[in-house]
Amino acid sequence: MRLRIPGGRSPVDPRQRGQAPLSHDADLGDAELDDTALARLYAYPADSGTAPGAWVRANMVASLDGAAVVDGQSAGLSSPGDRRVFWALRALADVIVVGAGTARAEGYHPTRTKEPWASLGLRTGRPAAPPLALVSQSLELDPATPLIADAPDDARTIIITCESSPAGRRAALARAADVIVAGEHSVDLAAAFAGLADRGLRHVLCEGGPRLLTDIVAGGLLDELCLTVSPLLAGVGPVRILAGALFPAHRLRLAHLLEEDGVLFARYHSIPA
Ligand SMILES: NC(=O)c1ccc[n+]([C@@H]2O[C@H](COP(=O)([O-])OP(=O)(O)OC[C@H]3O[C@@H](n4cnc5c(N)ncnc54)[C@H](OP(=O)(O)O)[C@@H]3O)[C@@H](O)[C@H]2O)c1
Repeated sequence: MRLRIPGGRSPVDPRQRGQAPLSHDADLGDAELDDTALARLYAYPADSGTAPGAWVRANMVASLDGAAVVDGQSAGLSSPGDRRVFWALRALADVIVVGAGTARAEGYHPTRTKEPWASLGLRTGRPAAPPLALVSQSLELDPATPLIADAPDDARTIIITCESSPAGRRAALARAADVIVAGEHSVDLAAAFAGLADRGLRHVLCEGGPRLLTDIVAGGLLDELCLTVSPLLAGVGPVRILAGALFPAHRLRLAHLLEEDGVLFARYHSIPA
């Protein structure tokens, strides 16, 4: 994996917004990126983003024609490089936020930190792996599922829901998971991210899916998008990385572009409206 376009060439320099540069990659040249360099390229910024106290990063994969799934899952779009970035981003995060639809479709389990990322010290002072936070209104989630029941005590699964969710299901889930109630009829994501930040979970990694990511973008809460572009055409039909409500066009700037075997790994930062 090599750095093809380093940071700093974007039209908006983060220093103009009073932030430190987000990556220090000018010295990487065209060398094969080792694990330390890769982790450094994806380091979270020191400052918080749009949501109070939090930096919200999304990580998604798409085909050249914009599909977010092949045969109903994102695995068909993935690659060794995509999995390397995926696990690095997980190791860097304080919490992984995911929509219930993705947790069901992709068979989510409690996270772990794979090597080499654990040995790099990315988790020092934090649980061995970040907790998962599931966003759901229906709460059609089984408290006995490994995703909830097998989570370690120091990284219990978090359920993010709203007042209108079924009270009985919420009470049952609260026995096995931490519950954040944010919003009345649907989840108020700004309040949810504030609730995570109150727990010290400021570096958010959202792994989708399309409906949740749409709500985050529409709410003006996306600080960063890490997008893997896989060199294949999936054809007409599959869902894109966004699905649901319309919102005004949201602009981002390129922070860096990596490449491996024709697969592109772009890191974009939101440009404040
Ligand atoms: N290419 C990629 O990078 C990528 C990444 C992730 C997922 N995917 C794919 O995307 C598909 C799933 O799409 P999806 O749009 O259904 O995924 P999703 O956003 O993960 O799930 C939607 C569900 O999440 C809950 N939810 C999301 N936002 C909410 C909000 N603001 N308030 C309350 N609840 C909210 C609701 O759950 P309840 O129904 O429980 O209320 C909703 O039905 C799968 O095929 C998956 O493989 C692709």
